[in-house]
Amino acid sequence: MAGDAEKGEKVFRKCQACHDVGEDAKSKVGPVLNNIMGRQIASVEDFKYSKVLAEMGEAGDVWTPEALAAFLEKPRDFAKGTKMSFAGLRKEEDRADVIAFLASHSDE
Ligand code: HEM
Repeated sequence: MAGDAEKGEKVFRKCQACHDVGEDAKSKVGPVLNNIMGRQIASVEDFKYSKVLAEMGEAGDVWTPEALAAFLEKPRDFAKGTKMSFAGLRKEEDRADVIAFLASHSDE
């Protein structure tokens, strides 16, 4: 399902308490999300990740649209023990839109 980045910007409001994206974005409670597409999992320098995400990154796993969709649907199912205290986005459309929004802030 192809998402709509403009709608995704609105969905991203749910993430903004913890995440920043765009020019001058910095990590907050959660890591900065610039260039997330194709980025190795848990690779923001100086961000203290949970063991589960750190191990996925060490294994060489990267964020694809599919992996993001699975994580954002139920973070704790995708990564048991994640520090991301977020229940997830139940609607497939919201997930697709926010992923399109994040892709618009990625080189890939
Ligand atoms: C991690 C996206 C909501 C806190 C992540 C990662 C992504 C992401 C892609 C992995 C980053 C990486 O590997 O570097 C989102 C999106 C959200 C959202 C799109 C909204 C739909 C939230 C909220 C919070 C939060 C509301 C805080 C209550 C965190 C934390 C991590 C994280 C602490 C690190 C997790 C760990 O180390 O296990 N998020 N997030 N996120 N997020 Fe979120």
